[in-house]
Parts: sequence; structure tokens; C-alpha cells
Amino acid sequence: MHKRTIAEPYKIKVVEPLRMTTRHYREEKIREAGHNTFLLRSEDVYIDLLTDSGTSAMSDNQWAGMMLGDEAYAGSRNFYTLERAVQEIYGFRYIVPTHQGRAAEHITSQLRIEPGQYVPMNMYFTTTREHVERAGGIFYDCIIDEAHDPANPHPFKGNVDIAKLDRLVQEKGRDAIAYLSIAPCVNMAGGQPFSMDNLHRVAAWAGRHGIPIIFDATRAVENAYFIQQREPGYAGKPVREILQEMMSYGEGCTMSSKKDNLVNIGGFIATNNEEFFTRAKEMVVVFEGLHTYGGLAGRDMEAVARGIYEMVDDAYIASRVRQVEHLGGRLREAGIPIVEPIGGHAPEDALVDRPDGGHAVFVDAKRFLPHVPQDEFPAQTLAAALYVDSGVRGMERGIVSAGRDPTTGNHRVPKLELVRLTIPRRVYTNLHMDVVAESCITLYEGRKAIRGLKMVYEPPELRFFQARFEPIIP
Ligand code: F0G
Repeated sequence: MHKRTIAEPYKIKVVEPLRMTTRHYREEKIREAGHNTFLLRSEDVYIDLLTDSGTSAMSDNQWAGMMLGDEAYAGSRNFYTLERAVQEIYGFRYIVPTHQGRAAEHITSQLRIEPGQYVPMNMYFTTTREHVERAGGIFYDCIIDEAHDPANPHPFKGNVDIAKLDRLVQEKGRDAIAYLSIAPCVNMAGGQPFSMDNLHRVAAWAGRHGIPIIFDATRAVENAYFIQQREPGYAGKPVREILQEMMSYGEGCTMSSKKDNLVNIGGFIATNNEEFFTRAKEMVVVFEGLHTYGGLAGRDMEAVARGIYEMVDDAYIASRVRQVEHLGGRLREAGIPIVEPIGGHAPEDALVDRPDGGHAVFVDAKRFLPHVPQDEFPAQTLAAALYVDSGVRGMERGIVSAGRDPTTGNHRVPKLELVRLTIPRRVYTNLHMDVVAESCITLYEGRKAIRGLKMVYEPPELRFFQARFEPIIP
């Protein structure tokens, strides 16, 4: 029997028209935007795969919840609903809402890092590392080496290399480490998950040294799903239980609700550490708002709370990751280099194939454009070319995103030079994914004619957001 199609576990109630433009129009717009897809206006974009952050379609249940917003300055009932949702689903006792993830990172970094301390992370995320560095901390990459190789098919490329942690403790001593910052579905590694087994061993290591784990839980549900699909012993276990087991290894987390939680804005700090909670409540008031709203409207907190229950629905998360796999599969079939593991086929009766990264397909720009050297920004170049070809917007995740080393001032040269095609949750259909794939295929066929870029404006921090480029004319 043929493998049966699994459709989205929802139907569409409201639609938003898309705008199509001409190639000539898009050439002008990308020039005006300095060849940086962050600087395009969204109305000039046809299919927007810039990010999965804040771009989810909310459910009717979430919209209904927004009408129940209790817009009180203090003690909004929606705060208590959110607190309960986090306690029930993530398992942490205390919660401080923030307007989004980086605000939670800011507060956590300021309160938990002494200047000169190290923060080991499984690779980095841009804002997380920025806040660590602003607090005087030093980022230390403890992800396994396989994560830096886009072609390596390791099923858990988000894993931590414990030998790297040992080395840090031997060289610098335990007190030089503020905490371990562990991210599920590591964004910059191509949305790659860690395994529960690895987490278990990392937590045992951390416990021996008395070092807390603070998760960046932004895409934890997607990681839980990969554990369900790929890790022995977890098949058939609900993602809700896997998520709880995962979070039980941490002292707490920072969270960008704009991803897993299926909302357009929001975030939080959650923790079991009462002293940290007390200090975070004091600090959130200075930067975000009172500790029972943290920069959010009551209605926003209600939408986050309802999204938290929806995200752990097994059918939803399977369909979400399957859509990523659909796009990845189309590109792979055409021979386009993308970040692996390859989604080999699961047994016929399994719910899903083995998917790629959880939230996005990452095109390997180094192999796509081997004639463009890394200091001519191959991923930036490819993202701009994709927009011109079809109005599809992706994001550079390579040397521009990596920024400069704060001590030497040189470019940090990452091994991964990627264009991220990030898929918003519950927003596009697989036909949209086919349009994206066809545009990538067209570019791949004509790749030899694509020329690199030079940077003509560079902001000092998080440069990828606002840097401007011009084509190199030979
Ligand atoms: N951590 C991770 C892993 C993220 O991917 C992001 C945001 C943040 C923290 C910060 O959260 O945006 O709510 O302040 N990632 C977005 C992206 C911007 O496109 O990947 P935020």
C-alpha cells in the first residue's frame, strides 16, 4: 500500500492575500534594501521565510482568548493563566513574563554572569551571545564537532561535547563558569536537536560540578518531537511528556514565545530558583514592566498560555515538521546542497519520515556558490538572488550573522555559511513550499552567473540586521 498522506490537523478560517511583483520591481527593491533581506518591506515579499519568529498563525481559540484580556497593570488574570500553563507544560515553578526572548536573555545574563565568567553553549545564537558578552561573559562553544559540518548526517547535531566542558573546567576552574546555556533545535546549526541521552549525561556532569543548566527553550517542542522520532525508547511517547523530561534537567529557561508558543509576541523567564526569581522580578520592572505583565498586554499573555497547550499536540507538531521535510525533500531531490541529516524513510506505518531541522531548511551557500569566497558573503548573495528570482525572502546565517570577534576585530569566520528558509507555523501550504523549491532550483541551474557582494555599511553590533551591500562588478 502507498504511504498515506497526513494533512494539517486544522482548516483555514481567515485568509490574508499575498502580493506578487515583477522581477524588475524586485531588482529595484533589493538594491534599495542594500541587498539585505532584513531591509525589505514585507509588502514587497511574496512568500516570507525570513523567520519563524512571531509569524505563526494563531488558532481561533487563541483569538478568542485575546478578547478575554485583563488589561490590569497589576495581577492580570491572564498572568495567572500563563503561569499555570508554564508550570503544567514546562514544569518550572516561577515565571517572569517578558516582551520577547532577548529581554529574558538580557535579565538572565545580567543577573547570572560575573564579568570574566564563561557561558558554555551548544553553538551560539546571535542575541543570546550578545547579552552574555554585554554582561561581561565569554561565550564558549561546547557543541559536538559534527554540528559544524553541514554534510554530516549525525541525527543529534545539537549534542554537547562533554570533553569540551571538561577542558574548560580543567583550564579555568569551575567558578569561571556562570551556567550552561543549552538550546534545543540549535538554530545556527540548522535547527538540529540534541538527544535525551546526551542531555542526561550533560546534566550529570553539571550536577557533579554544581553548575546550573539554563535552557534557551525557544524551540524545545520541536526538539522533543525529534527525540520521539529518532531516539530509541521514545517512539510513541507524547511530546508533552518528552518536553517535561527534558526541562526537568534544567534550573530554568529563557523563552522566546514567538516560536514554539504559536504567538506573534511574547517571552518569559521560568525557573525553580527562588532567589533568581526574586531578582528577576526586580529587574523586569526596570526594563519591561511589572512582573505580572513584563511588557505584554494581558491579551498577549492569554494567547501565549493557550499556545503553550496547543504546541504539545502530537498531530500539530508532526505536521509542522513534516512541512519542513517537504521543502527539504524537494531541494534534496534536485541535488541542492542543504544541511543534513538526510530524511531517510521511516517504516511504512510510522507517522512521519525522518525530517531535517525543525523550523527551517538551510541551504549550504558555500557549496551552492563555490566560486564566491566567504568574504564576498555567499549566503547574503544567495538570499538576495532568491528574492529577485521569486519574491521569496530567506535569511543569511553565515559570516555576516557571525559578526566580528570583540578582541581582534576580525570577521568571525563560521564553518557554516547558510541561507535559512524558515517556515512560519500554520501559515503556508505545501504548494507555497513547491514555489520556493522551484525558485531555488532555477537559481541552482544558473548559479555560475551569480556574483558576490561587498559590504558598504556595517553597524557595530548584530550587524546582519542593518548591514548594506553592493554587487561586486568584475
Ligand atoms: N534564542 C533563539 C534560539 C532564537 O532563535 C531567538 C530568536 C531568540 C533566542 C531571541 O528571541 O527574537 O524573541 O528576542 N530568533 C529569531 C530568528 C529572531 O529568526 O531565529 P526573540
